[in-house]
Amino acid sequence: MNPTTDEPNGPAERMRVEALAAALARHGVGECRLAIVLGSGLKSFGDVLEDRTEIACADLPHWPVPRVEGHGGSVVIGTVAGLRVVCLTGRVHRYEGWSVGDVVRGVRAVRRSGVPDLLLTNAAGGIRESFVPGDLMQIEDHLNLAGANPLVGPHEDAFGSRFVDQSEVYHRGLTARLASLDPALKRGVYVGILGPTYETPAEIRMFRTLGADAIGMSTVLEAMAAHAMGARVVGLSLITNHAAGVTGARLSHDEVVAAGTEAEGRLHQLVTGFCRSLAADPVDD
Ligand code: HPA
Repeated sequence: MNPTTDEPNGPAERMRVEALAAALARHGVGECRLAIVLGSGLKSFGDVLEDRTEIACADLPHWPVPRVEGHGGSVVIGTVAGLRVVCLTGRVHRYEGWSVGDVVRGVRAVRRSGVPDLLLTNAAGGIRESFVPGDLMQIEDHLNLAGANPLVGPHEDAFGSRFVDQSEVYHRGLTARLASLDPALKRGVYVGILGPTYETPAEIRMFRTLGADAIGMSTVLEAMAAHAMGARVVGLSLITNHAAGVTGARLSHDEVVAAGTEAEGRLHQLVTGFCRSLAADPVDD
Protein backbone atom coordinates (compact mmCIF):
# COMPACT_ATOMS: atom_id res chain seq x y z
CA MET A 1 0.00 0.00 0.00
CA ASN A 2 0.97 3.63 -0.41
CA PRO A 3 1.16 5.98 2.59
CA THR A 4 -2.25 7.28 3.62
CA THR A 5 -2.71 11.02 3.45
CA ASP A 6 -5.52 11.76 5.90
CA GLU A 7 -5.19 12.47 9.60
CA PRO A 8 -4.35 9.73 12.12
CA ASN A 9 -7.65 10.27 13.92
CA GLY A 10 -11.05 10.23 12.21
CA PRO A 11 -13.51 7.79 10.62
CA ALA A 12 -11.35 6.71 7.66
CA GLU A 13 -8.50 5.65 9.96
CA ARG A 14 -10.92 3.97 12.37
CA MET A 15 -12.27 1.84 9.53
CA ARG A 16 -8.75 0.77 8.53
CA VAL A 17 -7.85 -0.14 12.11
CA GLU A 18 -11.10 -2.08 12.53
CA ALA A 19 -10.55 -4.06 9.32
CA LEU A 20 -6.99 -4.87 10.39
CA ALA A 21 -8.08 -5.79 13.93
CA ALA A 22 -10.75 -8.12 12.56
CA ALA A 23 -8.16 -9.87 10.35
CA LEU A 24 -5.80 -10.23 13.32
CA ALA A 25 -8.60 -11.53 15.53
CA ARG A 26 -9.30 -14.29 12.97
CA HIS A 27 -5.71 -15.47 13.56
CA GLY A 28 -6.22 -15.55 17.35
CA VAL A 29 -4.42 -12.31 18.28
CA GLY A 30 -7.20 -11.57 20.80
CA GLU A 31 -5.89 -14.38 23.04
CA CYS A 32 -2.43 -12.80 23.33
CA ARG A 33 -1.51 -11.16 26.60
CA LEU A 34 1.39 -9.11 25.28
CA ALA A 35 2.23 -7.46 21.95
CA ILE A 36 5.93 -6.87 21.25
CA VAL A 37 7.16 -4.42 18.63
CA LEU A 38 10.54 -5.66 17.54
CA GLY A 39 13.09 -2.94 16.88
CA SER A 40 16.70 -3.30 15.83
CA GLY A 41 18.43 -6.01 17.82
CA LEU A 42 15.31 -7.98 18.53
CA LYS A 43 14.09 -8.66 15.00
CA SER A 44 14.69 -12.40 15.27
CA PHE A 45 12.71 -12.81 18.50
CA GLY A 46 9.66 -13.89 16.50
CA ASP A 47 11.62 -16.96 15.31
CA VAL A 48 11.87 -18.42 18.83
CA LEU A 49 8.14 -18.50 19.54
CA GLU A 50 6.60 -21.94 20.09
CA ASP A 51 3.40 -23.02 18.45
CA ARG A 52 3.76 -20.14 16.02
CA THR A 53 1.71 -18.69 13.19
CA GLU A 54 3.32 -16.11 10.93
CA ILE A 55 1.33 -13.73 8.74
CA ALA A 56 3.08 -11.57 6.15
CA CYS A 57 2.21 -7.87 6.54
CA ALA A 58 1.42 -7.83 2.82
CA ASP A 59 -1.45 -10.28 3.49
CA LEU A 60 -3.06 -8.06 6.13
CA PRO A 61 -5.45 -5.25 5.15
CA HIS A 62 -4.07 -1.71 5.50
CA TRP A 63 -0.80 -2.89 7.05
CA PRO A 64 2.02 -0.70 5.72
CA VAL A 65 4.64 -2.98 4.21
CA PRO A 66 8.20 -1.93 5.11
CA ARG A 67 10.31 -1.01 2.12
CA VAL A 68 13.51 -2.48 3.53
CA GLU A 69 15.36 -4.82 1.18
CA GLY A 70 14.46 -8.46 1.59
CA HIS A 71 12.08 -8.09 4.54
CA GLY A 72 8.44 -7.19 4.14
CA GLY A 73 7.70 -7.61 7.84
CA SER A 74 5.30 -9.99 9.51
CA VAL A 75 3.09 -10.60 12.50
CA VAL A 76 4.07 -13.67 14.50
CA ILE A 77 1.71 -15.18 17.05
CA GLY A 78 2.97 -17.79 19.48
CA THR A 79 4.03 -18.72 23.01
CA VAL A 80 7.11 -17.60 24.95
CA ALA A 81 7.80 -19.19 28.33
CA GLY A 82 4.10 -19.93 28.78
CA LEU A 83 2.81 -16.51 27.68
CA ARG A 84 0.79 -16.06 24.51
CA VAL A 85 2.30 -13.12 22.59
CA VAL A 86 2.08 -11.39 19.25
CA CYS A 87 5.27 -9.95 17.73
CA LEU A 88 5.21 -7.17 15.18
CA THR A 89 8.29 -7.09 12.97
CA GLY A 90 8.73 -4.54 10.24
CA ARG A 91 7.96 -1.27 11.99
CA VAL A 92 7.55 1.65 9.59
CA HIS A 93 8.79 5.18 10.22
CA ARG A 94 7.65 8.63 9.23
CA TYR A 95 11.07 9.44 7.78
CA GLU A 96 10.34 6.84 5.09
CA GLY A 97 7.32 8.85 4.04
CA TRP A 98 4.68 6.94 5.98
CA SER A 99 1.95 8.94 7.70
CA VAL A 100 1.39 9.01 11.47
CA GLY A 101 -1.70 6.81 11.00
CA ASP A 102 0.41 4.24 9.11
CA VAL A 103 3.07 4.27 11.85
CA VAL A 104 0.61 3.54 14.69
CA ARG A 105 -1.94 1.36 12.86
CA GLY A 106 -0.39 -1.95 13.92
CA VAL A 107 -0.35 -1.20 17.64
CA ARG A 108 -3.85 0.25 17.47
CA ALA A 109 -5.12 -2.87 15.72
CA VAL A 110 -3.59 -5.32 18.20
CA ARG A 111 -5.03 -3.26 21.04
CA ARG A 112 -8.41 -3.15 19.30
CA SER A 113 -8.35 -6.93 18.94
CA GLY A 114 -8.02 -7.21 22.72
CA VAL A 115 -4.32 -7.36 23.67
CA PRO A 116 -3.86 -5.57 27.03
CA ASP A 117 -0.09 -4.95 27.20
CA LEU A 118 2.48 -3.63 24.75
CA LEU A 119 6.29 -3.84 24.86
CA LEU A 120 8.00 -1.39 22.50
CA THR A 121 11.67 -2.02 21.73
CA ASN A 122 14.08 0.15 19.79
CA ALA A 123 17.71 1.03 19.05
CA ALA A 124 18.79 4.34 20.51
CA GLY A 125 21.77 6.65 20.79
CA GLY A 126 23.06 7.21 24.32
CA ILE A 127 22.88 10.87 25.38
CA ARG A 128 23.74 10.28 29.03
CA GLU A 129 27.54 10.23 29.17
CA SER A 130 27.74 7.12 31.33
CA PHE A 131 25.79 5.02 28.79
CA VAL A 132 27.84 2.70 26.59
CA PRO A 133 26.86 0.76 23.48
CA GLY A 134 25.24 -2.50 24.52
CA ASP A 135 23.46 -1.00 27.55
CA LEU A 136 19.75 -1.68 27.86
CA MET A 137 17.58 1.20 29.09
CA GLN A 138 14.00 0.96 30.10
CA ILE A 139 11.98 3.97 29.11
CA GLU A 140 10.53 5.72 32.13
CA ASP A 141 9.14 8.64 30.16
CA HIS A 142 9.62 10.33 26.82
CA LEU A 143 9.97 13.68 25.08
CA ASN A 144 7.84 13.73 21.95
CA LEU A 145 9.90 15.86 19.57
CA ALA A 146 8.82 13.88 16.53
CA GLY A 147 6.74 16.83 15.36
CA ALA A 148 3.47 14.90 15.32
CA ASN A 149 0.72 13.47 17.50
CA PRO A 150 -1.38 10.38 16.67
CA LEU A 151 -4.54 11.93 18.11
CA VAL A 152 -4.72 14.86 15.68
CA GLY A 153 -7.87 14.95 13.59
CA PRO A 154 -11.61 14.54 14.08
CA HIS A 155 -12.19 12.88 17.44
CA GLU A 156 -12.73 9.11 17.48
CA ASP A 157 -13.70 7.57 20.79
CA ALA A 158 -12.24 4.25 19.64
CA PHE A 159 -8.75 5.81 19.70
CA GLY A 160 -9.05 7.35 23.17
CA SER A 161 -10.43 10.49 24.70
CA ARG A 162 -9.92 13.93 23.13
CA PHE A 163 -7.38 15.15 25.71
CA VAL A 164 -5.39 12.22 26.99
CA ASP A 165 -3.47 12.41 30.27
CA GLN A 166 0.25 11.72 29.71
CA SER A 167 1.37 11.45 33.36
CA GLU A 168 2.12 7.74 33.02
CA VAL A 169 2.48 6.70 29.40
CA TYR A 170 4.80 3.87 30.53
CA HIS A 171 2.99 1.66 33.02
CA ARG A 172 4.68 1.76 36.43
CA GLY A 173 3.84 -1.80 37.44
CA LEU A 174 5.07 -3.38 34.21
CA THR A 175 8.16 -1.16 34.17
CA ALA A 176 9.00 -2.17 37.75
CA ARG A 177 8.55 -5.83 36.80
CA LEU A 178 10.97 -5.50 33.90
CA ALA A 179 13.48 -3.68 36.13
CA SER A 180 13.31 -6.48 38.70
CA LEU A 181 14.56 -8.99 36.11
CA ASP A 182 17.90 -7.35 35.26
CA PRO A 183 19.95 -5.43 37.85
CA ALA A 184 22.13 -3.94 35.06
CA LEU A 185 19.15 -2.37 33.31
CA LYS A 186 19.42 1.42 33.06
CA ARG A 187 16.40 3.66 33.18
CA GLY A 188 15.82 7.00 31.58
CA VAL A 189 13.98 9.39 29.29
CA TYR A 190 13.80 8.65 25.56
CA VAL A 191 13.48 11.51 23.12
CA GLY A 192 11.74 10.61 19.86
CA ILE A 193 12.69 12.68 16.82
CA LEU A 194 11.69 12.49 13.16
CA GLY A 195 15.04 11.51 11.56
CA PRO A 196 16.38 10.17 9.27
CA THR A 197 19.54 12.19 9.85
CA TYR A 198 21.36 11.66 13.10
CA GLU A 199 21.69 14.75 15.27
CA THR A 200 24.32 17.45 15.45
CA PRO A 201 26.41 17.64 18.64
CA ALA A 202 24.62 20.94 19.46
CA GLU A 203 21.24 19.21 19.19
CA ILE A 204 22.43 16.44 21.51
CA ARG A 205 23.57 19.05 24.07
CA MET A 206 20.13 20.64 23.79
CA PHE A 207 18.34 17.30 24.30
CA ARG A 208 20.54 16.56 27.33
CA THR A 209 19.62 19.95 28.82
CA LEU A 210 15.98 19.12 28.20
CA GLY A 211 16.31 15.92 30.23
CA ALA A 212 16.78 13.22 27.60
CA ASP A 213 18.99 10.18 28.24
CA ALA A 214 18.61 8.35 24.91
CA ILE A 215 17.43 9.26 21.42
CA GLY A 216 15.76 7.48 18.54
CA MET A 217 13.40 7.75 15.60
CA SER A 218 10.50 5.57 16.73
CA THR A 219 8.41 4.50 19.73
CA VAL A 220 6.86 7.74 21.05
CA LEU A 221 3.94 7.86 18.61
CA GLU A 222 3.20 4.16 19.09
CA ALA A 223 3.38 4.55 22.89
CA MET A 224 0.98 7.53 22.82
CA ALA A 225 -1.51 5.82 20.50
CA ALA A 226 -1.57 2.58 22.50
CA HIS A 227 -1.73 4.35 25.87
CA ALA A 228 -4.67 6.47 24.64
CA MET A 229 -6.52 3.22 23.90
CA GLY A 230 -5.90 1.94 27.42
CA ALA A 231 -2.97 -0.37 26.68
CA ARG A 232 -0.34 -0.78 29.39
CA VAL A 233 2.90 0.21 27.70
CA VAL A 234 6.48 -0.64 28.55
CA GLY A 235 9.50 0.55 26.55
CA LEU A 236 13.01 -0.87 26.18
CA SER A 237 15.91 0.79 24.34
CA LEU A 238 19.11 -0.89 23.26
CA ILE A 239 21.86 1.73 23.34
CA THR A 240 23.69 1.09 20.07
CA ASN A 241 26.03 4.12 20.01
CA HIS A 242 27.11 7.24 21.83
CA ALA A 243 24.95 10.09 20.51
CA ALA A 244 26.66 12.69 18.33
CA GLY A 245 29.39 14.67 20.08
CA VAL A 246 29.56 12.44 23.18
CA THR A 247 32.87 10.92 22.07
CA GLY A 248 33.62 12.87 18.89
CA ALA A 249 33.26 9.72 16.75
CA ARG A 250 31.09 9.88 13.64
CA LEU A 251 27.87 7.89 13.61
CA SER A 252 27.31 5.08 11.13
CA HIS A 253 24.16 3.12 10.52
CA ASP A 254 26.26 -0.04 10.07
CA GLU A 255 27.62 0.34 13.59
CA VAL A 256 24.12 0.84 14.96
CA VAL A 257 23.00 -2.38 13.25
CA ALA A 258 26.13 -4.29 14.38
CA ALA A 259 25.62 -3.25 18.03
CA GLY A 260 22.02 -4.40 17.74
CA THR A 261 23.06 -7.82 16.47
CA GLU A 262 25.69 -8.19 19.19
CA ALA A 263 23.23 -7.49 22.00
CA GLU A 264 20.56 -9.72 20.52
CA GLY A 265 21.14 -12.59 22.97
CA ARG A 266 20.78 -10.41 26.07
CA LEU A 267 17.69 -8.76 24.72
CA HIS A 268 16.15 -12.14 23.93
CA GLN A 269 16.94 -13.31 27.43
CA LEU A 270 15.40 -10.26 29.10
CA VAL A 271 12.23 -10.32 27.00
CA THR A 272 11.85 -14.08 27.53
CA GLY A 273 12.26 -13.53 31.28
CA PHE A 274 9.63 -10.79 31.16
CA CYS A 275 7.19 -13.15 29.43
CA ARG A 276 7.93 -15.95 31.93
CA SER A 277 7.36 -13.57 34.82
CA LEU A 278 4.05 -12.28 33.42
CA ALA A 279 2.85 -15.84 32.75
CA ALA A 280 3.60 -16.89 36.33
CA ASP A 281 2.47 -13.74 38.08
CA PRO A 282 0.42 -11.17 36.12
CA VAL A 283 0.88 -7.49 37.00
CA ASP A 284 -2.39 -6.07 38.35
CA ASP A 285 -3.35 -2.46 37.82
N1 HPA B 1 20.17 9.09 17.03
C1 HPA B 1 18.93 8.84 16.57
N2 HPA B 1 18.44 7.63 16.38
C2 HPA B 1 19.23 6.58 16.69
C3 HPA B 1 20.54 6.75 17.18
C4 HPA B 1 21.03 8.09 17.36
O1 HPA B 1 22.18 8.31 17.79
N3 HPA B 1 21.04 5.50 17.38
C5 HPA B 1 20.09 4.61 17.03
N4 HPA B 1 18.98 5.26 16.61
